[in-house]
Amino acid sequence: MEFVTLSNGVKMPLEGFGVFQVPEADVCEKAVLDAIETGYRLVDTAAAYFNEEAVGSAIKKCGVPREELFITTKLWIQDAGYENAKKAFETSLKKLGLDYLDLYLIHQPFGDYYGSWRAMEELYNEGKIRAIGVCNFYPERLADLCVNAKVVPMVNQVELHPFFAQGDALENMKNFGVQPEAWGPLAEGKHGIFTHPVLTEIGKKYDKTAAQVALRWNAQRGVVIIPKSTHIERMKENLNIWDFKLTDEEISAIAKLDLGHSEIVDHSSPETAKWLNGWKIHD
Ligand SMILES: NC(=O)c1ccc[n+]([C@@H]2O[C@H](COP(=O)([O-])OP(=O)(O)OC[C@H]3O[C@@H](n4cnc5c(N)ncnc54)[C@H](OP(=O)(O)O)[C@@H]3O)[C@@H](O)[C@H]2O)c1
Repeated sequence: MEFVTLSNGVKMPLEGFGVFQVPEADVCEKAVLDAIETGYRLVDTAAAYFNEEAVGSAIKKCGVPREELFITTKLWIQDAGYENAKKAFETSLKKLGLDYLDLYLIHQPFGDYYGSWRAMEELYNEGKIRAIGVCNFYPERLADLCVNAKVVPMVNQVELHPFFAQGDALENMKNFGVQPEAWGPLAEGKHGIFTHPVLTEIGKKYDKTAAQVALRWNAQRGVVIIPKSTHIERMKENLNIWDFKLTDEEISAIAKLDLGHSEIVDHSSPETAKWLNGWKIHD
């Protein structure tokens, strides 16, 4: 496993395991146990995934020392604001059965996220979180937060895969020293990614699948990837990307696949803001 060093010196695995859309406790616990057994050390969950307890249960049972794991969870919009964020952090920590987090992220760039950020800065300074960051902050919002925050976010987790490469967003993150992390690194299976002719053809040379080429491409440009699978064979496949290197020509061929927009969610749309603001995760 390779690591990246965040702006505050914390080392973060370049590949981790995501658990979005795995709400069933037994399925999630088994998936996380299988992933850790396979060699993943970073687990990415969120309060809004309804599986922090299952992740926590797997962490407890896995037998890997806590300090070797890198656990991320996220603050949902409903809990935005200084007081709410402090409470939500404690709830997440309790559900996960942990006494500190490796990475705490603001899940969406909506609601009183400046209040949330102040709470997260304090929790970070108190040593309860090793790194803090955001998700889905597109360039202008990220720049605004970076300019105004006391602690500049260490990570921005956004949708990044060959069909939505977001070169400009990456450049902006680099300028602020923010580590990019890819959600949906396999495009959530969209656009025929697993049998895509360009990715498949490149993979043949290295005896790799289209999925492995897509993951390698992001990792090779320094982006942390967190593919999700509930199938152990796919977990192994997705982790087996560290023994080959794409050439400049192959990277150029993949660059041509960029659609320049998301086919999953458009964060610049008012409809998205309304829809996500209305999504409640507790009473
Ligand atoms: N911050 C955010 O707003 C945000 C948004 C979305 C996701 N995320 C995070 O990012 C993680 C990854 O994104 P994602 O789960 O949305 O999508 P993804 O990892 O791009 O794709 C997951 C899908 O691909 C399938 N799959 C995985 N590996 C495969 C392989 N080698 N061959 C064929 N199919 C394969 C999975 O199916 P099976 O499970 O059936 O194998 C699943 O349907 C999430 O789990 C979550 O932790 C964050």
